[in-house]
Amino acid sequence: MKRKAFGLVSALALAAALGVSACSTTTGGASMTPPAIAPAPGPQAVDSHTYGRPEIARVVDVALDLTANFQAKTLSGTATLDLLTAPNAGEVILDIRNLDIQSVNDAAGQPLRFDIGADDAIKGQPLTVHFPAAEGDGRRKIIVRYSTRPDAAALQWLTPAQTAGGQKPYLFSQGQAILTRTWVPTQDSPGIRQTYSARITAPADLTVVMSADHLTPEGEAAPNGQKTWRFRMNNPIPPYLIALGVGELAFAPFDNRTGVWTEPSRLAAAQWELEPTAAMVTAAEKLYGPYRWGRYDLLVLPPSFPFGGMENPKLTFATPTIIAGDRSLVSLVAHELAHSWSGNLVTNATWNDFWLNEGFTSYFENRIMESVYGHDLAVQEQVLAWDGLQDELKSLPADDTKLHLNLTGRDPDDGMNTIAYDKGAAFLRTIEGIAGREKFDAWMRGYFDRNAYRPMTTAMFLDDIRAHLVKGDARLETALKLDEWVYQPGLPSNAVAPVSHAFEPVDVAAVAFFQNKGPASAIPWSGWNTQQRQRFLSWRPQGLAANADWLTDAQLGDLQSTLNLANEGNSELIFAWLQIALAHRYQPSVVTAEKFLTSQGRRKFVLPLFQTLWNEGDWGRAQARRIYAEARPLYHPVTAGSVDALVGRP
Ligand code: BES
Ligand code: ZN
Repeated sequence: MKRKAFGLVSALALAAALGVSACSTTTGGASMTPPAIAPAPGPQAVDSHTYGRPEIARVVDVALDLTANFQAKTLSGTATLDLLTAPNAGEVILDIRNLDIQSVNDAAGQPLRFDIGADDAIKGQPLTVHFPAAEGDGRRKIIVRYSTRPDAAALQWLTPAQTAGGQKPYLFSQGQAILTRTWVPTQDSPGIRQTYSARITAPADLTVVMSADHLTPEGEAAPNGQKTWRFRMNNPIPPYLIALGVGELAFAPFDNRTGVWTEPSRLAAAQWELEPTAAMVTAAEKLYGPYRWGRYDLLVLPPSFPFGGMENPKLTFATPTIIAGDRSLVSLVAHELAHSWSGNLVTNATWNDFWLNEGFTSYFENRIMESVYGHDLAVQEQVLAWDGLQDELKSLPADDTKLHLNLTGRDPDDGMNTIAYDKGAAFLRTIEGIAGREKFDAWMRGYFDRNAYRPMTTAMFLDDIRAHLVKGDARLETALKLDEWVYQPGLPSNAVAPVSHAFEPVDVAAVAFFQNKGPASAIPWSGWNTQQRQRFLSWRPQGLAANADWLTDAQLGDLQSTLNLANEGNSELIFAWLQIALAHRYQPSVVTAEKFLTSQGRRKFVLPLFQTLWNEGDWGRAQARRIYAEARPLYHPVTAGSVDALVGRP
């Protein structure tokens, strides 16, 4: 397609109407300017988790005007959607779930007819808006007036008691994978990129932040003791990245383009802990090209945040459980930052290709860690991930160990396990090892440039790497086993286990303590870093049944007191300790578990610990029920939903 002949917008509109990707040679590229309108999702990737029919009409911009009501726990107001329509399109279909729709109007304020279809437990409902069909391709605006429900799955409304300060309420959103539709009526598919803007009105003593440019850093006075905050995101993004935080917030800079937001009483600790962020952005750019989003800030949330981190553009959301006091858990920042390329720039077209987001990001994360902290620490983290992968491969049905998934009819949340992360990263490391780092890095950088602001599928990835890395080299093609890696379960034979020499003394000490029943005082714990300590606590005997008792109370007691594990502050180490202690029904660890499970709601910690208790028969189940009854009110719907399915609703 010749761009000159049409002009950008009409070329894109035509391509949209045809349902093909426009301007494959003119968007993205090395250019830093994002397309004003994203290319249409290609016909090669049909997202079974959206009702949207982007080939008929698709949303290209969302403008929110919402008021946060902390008493009612609602966001209410309007979403003005900018649509690109095919010839004769007479309707647009949006995704909604658990929303109250009051009206839909056109740009002139005339009401439009709409209907809401049957409710699907996973996808929610289609909201179909009808309008008079126009000739030719077109743009039109619709204005949806609506309100969220208090139990919107994307939103958590925290009482003051659930915050660090204890004085003010708090609200945050979590859109990935398909939860944005519970607070924004739009086409909620990762392949349908949209720009967005927002006006958010909230009580004047709170600060509003979003994953966008902050146009009003101090907020603007609004009636009834409120303030309005305005935002704009000019880069087209998948809707799961629209994100909002409201609370008593303060900001501290790391350098002139990075910094951290959090509650005032937590600011100094977060600023110190996460200061390496500035160096990480520089390291990431050196690896795979310019950071294209302007600022890179972090928002450290209250402890109920259900994930480690969420890569909301310009503003990563993070759990406070990474504030360890010694910067030992900052790889999480490297991970979320890496998503600014893999995920936010080049995006999985559907959740079946989640590995393209998380596998690339886990690989890139480790390269950032290597740049900033050196090869040794990076390899330690590779080994921890590799060992986790071996466990995951054993515990999952074979189909779920493929990189390319088929999640049709399933909640994408269920299909998202660590395979995408750790098998994905192992795959890219295998390619790097075979092709050589220089060649591999040149390809990866080109991949981000060529595909910037586009949806990506596994098949497109294979085409890209064959065209730009393999280039017809038959021996390389055979050595890589590309199709086997992405389409077959398990690990292909060319996978290479990473080896860390830093773990050798750890393994010696683990055998001495766990197997030969030596004293805990012989463990050189204080000389180890967090990753070595994680390695030690995750040591397990080979070839024993998962529920075998291979440790005595006396050994566990020696470990707990000698290593002072009851007072451990590092969340990863508390977790690793509890996993081994609870699996042996070590009663003194139950208070530690109770404290941990009622003071943070990160699903990665919470769910496995409840599972471990659950596996321990009547003893464990009674503990699990008791602790969950106390903890559940703290948890985000995402975490509570997962634990409900295991323990049951208290
Ligand atoms: N994008 C994910 C979080 C996510 C995945 C949310 C799927 C909803 C559905 C984020 O980048 C992530 O992977 N977070 C990890 C931390 C990371 C260091 C592995 C997490 O939350 O544990
Ligand atoms: Zn991730």
